[in-house]
Amino acid sequence: MKTYHPHGTQNLKWWQTAVFYQIYPRSFQDSTGDGIGDLNGIINRLDYLVDLGINAIWISPIFPSPMADFGYDVSDYCDIHPMFGDLETFDRLLDEAHTRNLKIILDFVPNHSSNQHPWFLESRSSRDNAKRNWYIWRDAKPDGSVPNNWVSMFGGPAWTWDEKTQQYYMHSFLPEQPDLNWRNPEVVEAMHNALRFWLQRGVDGFRVDAILCLIKHDSFQDNPPVTPGSYWEMWGHTLEPRYTVEQPEMFEHVRLMRRVFDEFEERVHIGETGTVDVSGLIPYYGRPLDGYDIPFNFKLLHADWHAPTVRQILGDYYDILPAGGWPNFVYGNHDIHRFATRYGYKNHRSVAMLLLTLWGIPTLYYGDELGMEDVFIPVAQRIDPWGINMPEGDFGRDPERTPMQWDASPHAGFTSSEPWLPVADDYQTRNVAAELADKQSTLNFYKTLIQLRRSHPALHNGAFTFVDGLGDDLLAYLREAGDQRLLVCLNFGDQSRPIDLNHLTSSAETLLSTHFNAHSGTTFTLQPHESVLLQLK
Ligand code: BGC
Ligand code: MG
Repeated sequence: MKTYHPHGTQNLKWWQTAVFYQIYPRSFQDSTGDGIGDLNGIINRLDYLVDLGINAIWISPIFPSPMADFGYDVSDYCDIHPMFGDLETFDRLLDEAHTRNLKIILDFVPNHSSNQHPWFLESRSSRDNAKRNWYIWRDAKPDGSVPNNWVSMFGGPAWTWDEKTQQYYMHSFLPEQPDLNWRNPEVVEAMHNALRFWLQRGVDGFRVDAILCLIKHDSFQDNPPVTPGSYWEMWGHTLEPRYTVEQPEMFEHVRLMRRVFDEFEERVHIGETGTVDVSGLIPYYGRPLDGYDIPFNFKLLHADWHAPTVRQILGDYYDILPAGGWPNFVYGNHDIHRFATRYGYKNHRSVAMLLLTLWGIPTLYYGDELGMEDVFIPVAQRIDPWGINMPEGDFGRDPERTPMQWDASPHAGFTSSEPWLPVADDYQTRNVAAELADKQSTLNFYKTLIQLRRSHPALHNGAFTFVDGLGDDLLAYLREAGDQRLLVCLNFGDQSRPIDLNHLTSSAETLLSTHFNAHSGTTFTLQPHESVLLQLK
């Protein structure tokens, strides 16, 4: 039995024991009747989040934007999109959240701005403009073609021709998202000041977007073909982005940004990462720990729902965590199909049981606490540019971004008019109001689980020990702190499994079961897809 002991549990930072909750602001709550969520809507729903029990809210971008990538194309880093509200409303959101002991995390998009950002408008106005070098401009090849074979993450070339100034500019994502040139110190300073603008206002931290693309190799060499079966191939790429992602200077910028966070008290630095394997997460922690506090770990998000696979990923990660580094896990976000759809609805509560009982910070995605599933969007109705650009694949992100389901009224209580994306067909039964009224709903399951996590130090900072050999399709682990001794046992399979705990304990009581069963004693049977949290003697 291998045990992992969280280190330094005496002086934990607030974020180490927090449960994070991602809000996709366009889809959470509309207060203006335009079919799109907004800041007032979030304010109106803060009490729901308090009741759910989460501690910190990460809000996807709310800044002025032409919305080519639904906010990930920022045209002003220091303001609020009028569709979402204004700075005054934002300050009120901060106040209302802080009064309720909720932290607010914003999304920082450093790799690219919008092509409508005044910086880019200047940069493309002439070759000798002072901001020309704020973006990445290159000459065409002698035959007029693109400077090299680099491609956009969303399909098509990473280069767009500018007729007026007769050069190509580079974009890791859409042509509407030109990459900033982070090799230019003026860019670095301007972007650090954008962070300071919000941190000074009282924002509790940032989730940093797409950092892996931040620096491109200065040789501008062609990227090689992908290795069959590799991570990049899974994402529909034909080239391995060897010269376009995770360059060594990029990690240096993670550290430099971190210093900006350290100018303020108690802020959290969260970031997207590359995800080829768990060892790839380690450099994002910094050396030692001067990078991200929470380098998002997407390894489980991309893994099958299979007990030995999950067991392997957990062990690999805990084994190589840097001294003092704190783990984290993600199972859903605005870029990937909902796990209730990916793994089948029958498994969705077990996913929550795992995420909320592991040693490591959980980040929840809005609506998962209701058991929300993907909403099918036919190709012709897709609005996500990634889904539109790659019609042959299942890449569109609209299905996981549909409106939050609040109640059984028209449009699920999300809006009074036509919502920007369709509401799920099942909203009349799967919604917050209906689930609050049903003791055995998924929402009440989450509420109990989060409460248990908060009230049991064993669950948020206790030692973690794998309990192997209980049976096929099972994953089990102990969480222990002081005299608290908890066992989590998950049945990944579709068969009942007899459980015998006699070698571990003389008594076991159920604190929570995905099926709301109350097992007790040292032998019992787990139903198919059932997971339990037990208190042991
Ligand atoms: C974000 C995406 C976005 C992309 C470009 C990603 O990593 O999570 O939603 O489209 O960066 O900003
Ligand atoms: Mg609105």
